[in-house]
Amino acid sequence: MNEHQPVFKTSQLELADAEPRNPSANPTMGEIISARFSRRGFLKGSLAVSAIAATVSPLALLQAEQARAQEGGSAFSFTEVEAGVDETHHVAEGYDADVLLRWGDAVLPDAPAFDPANQTADAQAKQFGYNNDYVGYIPLDGSDEHGLLVVNHEYTNPHLMFPGLVTIVEGEMTMNSLTKEQVDVELMAHGGTIVEIRKVDGKWQVVPDGQYNRRITAMTEMELTGPAAGHDRLKTNADQTGTKVLGTLNNCAGGVTPWGTYIMAEENFHGYFSGELTEDHPEFANYDRLGVPEGSYEWANFHDRFDIAKEPNEPNRFGYIVEVDPMDPTSVPKKRTALGRFKHEGAESIVNKDGRVVFYLGDDERFDYVYKFVTAGTYNPDDRAANMDLLDEGTLYVARFDESGSVEWMPLVHGEGPLTQENGFESQADIVIETRRAADLLGATKMDRPEDIEPNGTNGKVYVMLTNNTRREAEQVDAANPRAENAFGHIIEIAEADGDFAATTGTWEVLLQCGDPSVAEVGATFSTDTTVNGWFGMPDNCAIDSDGRLWVSTDGNNPSATGRTDGLWAVDTEGAARGTSKLFFRVPVGAEMCGPVFTPNAETLFLAVQHPGDGGDDWEGFGRVSYYEDPSTRWPDFDDSLPVRPSVVVVTRQGGGKIAV
Ligand code: FEO
Ligand code: CA
Ligand code: CA
Repeated sequence: MNEHQPVFKTSQLELADAEPRNPSANPTMGEIISARFSRRGFLKGSLAVSAIAATVSPLALLQAEQARAQEGGSAFSFTEVEAGVDETHHVAEGYDADVLLRWGDAVLPDAPAFDPANQTADAQAKQFGYNNDYVGYIPLDGSDEHGLLVVNHEYTNPHLMFPGLVTIVEGEMTMNSLTKEQVDVELMAHGGTIVEIRKVDGKWQVVPDGQYNRRITAMTEMELTGPAAGHDRLKTNADQTGTKVLGTLNNCAGGVTPWGTYIMAEENFHGYFSGELTEDHPEFANYDRLGVPEGSYEWANFHDRFDIAKEPNEPNRFGYIVEVDPMDPTSVPKKRTALGRFKHEGAESIVNKDGRVVFYLGDDERFDYVYKFVTAGTYNPDDRAANMDLLDEGTLYVARFDESGSVEWMPLVHGEGPLTQENGFESQADIVIETRRAADLLGATKMDRPEDIEPNGTNGKVYVMLTNNTRREAEQVDAANPRAENAFGHIIEIAEADGDFAATTGTWEVLLQCGDPSVAEVGATFSTDTTVNGWFGMPDNCAIDSDGRLWVSTDGNNPSATGRTDGLWAVDTEGAARGTSKLFFRVPVGAEMCGPVFTPNAETLFLAVQHPGDGGDDWEGFGRVSYYEDPSTRWPDFDDSLPVRPSVVVVTRQGGGKIAV
């Protein structure tokens, strides 16, 4: 974080700049790093071959991939974008990148026109929300040109949303308090959007009266299901059943399940709570482990449920994986407590060869953990309804990455090992409510901020984005988190045993250590074919295209950190080109790149440009605070009467065809 950057609390919350929350003494494995790295590097080739043998993909795709690998060249032929920083977005030559949906655009047919000077909660509840993060595409009737776009709205930046909040007098900045109406706009700008989209004459557009169009907000009624549903620790004054909760918060990444439901992961929910509990309160330690209350938002001023002194159980009703049926706009979203409660980044899944479905889950905080959830039941491709409660029963596992190169998935099951009454776990409900403490007791590996994790059905591997952890000290490095003061993050590749995604063991290696490879002390491991534009820091989200290729989007590249904005990079994982990265798209100043997702035919790529104009303070020529009246960019409209707006961008190849061939 730049020391000159103004303190807008919501911007800092997203940067996860708070103190790490993991107090456990889980072991670290200092001295073995260099030995391990040289050995693992030596094994790369043979591991890649054995993983290909375990593939679950169609033969043709595999053959194409093997051919590319044998040739030894990159699987990506596009001409790179030049890395840098300016007011707008850039895509590789030969592609169109069109803005599809902006904050404030109509989602419901009766939405009023965006009027930023006169925002109301009622209007925002019908319009596209703020800070688009996860994007998913759900085909209608199997179409690649007509479907539902599902989009998370992670959080709000009031200093960029509302006029009149920031005043600067003689260089001193004041951030004024929000009114109740502004807070209520914020509640409605959170959550998610489901919107019908269609490609007409080669261009994607929103279907304004789409029958599935829906906004989900911080006020939408939801049901808590699974082991913690109805538990006393989830009961509040407003809900004596412990099963009904209003809204979802800080929906970061997510997923689309094999049965076509939309997953919204609740990440930094601690920021919305204020107030105090005394240290002898039964939830004090639980909340302390999660950083509750953090108080970045002013919601408790107007809504008692965000004041933990008044409603001490409300935070136990957030931090879950939320499942939404997008095909029924009246459906009640379900908070699936079986998948644990922590700062959920996302939940990408794959149908295992035995029909069970495996969800990979990151807990995005410094020194927190990587999880997966394996359903008890099996996926039924012929009966959608039969799958709708698969997420209520199954086993949650946490990962231990060993120096030997193996990974052990340890079950978080009540009564097993230390997860007993003796340690304060009366039932599985307590395990899921305090997932982090249960994982601490099992000795899980403390990671460098686990973000998106995606299984790759083509090569049978799993990719784990670890964004950074500058708080890791030299004596805390371990094999899976090998750099102290890890400013630029890394990517781990897991191969589950026997290609079985439900396996409790597997092997792993570091695919990439990120950062500038020309600076030796950084220790970046991009291939030597990677150009000055091709390297990146802070991997956050990722996508795997229909040919099994990896695309990585970033959060935290800026002029002072890496001399470039965030963006989307294509990363080779196979053959001699492994570890080569190329810049495909870059965002405007201050933005983060989220939501990469391809249509199944890989001809359309959706991207989310999140928090454009935020914190671009040390970009030469923009060396000042960025706020509503004076943003560092007015992307995407570049109209002085409109604020900078987070937006979803749709990328297609000029003349048609797959994005990357
Ligand atoms: Fe919301 Fe972990 O990024
Ligand atoms: Ca993220
Ligand atoms: Ca992020």
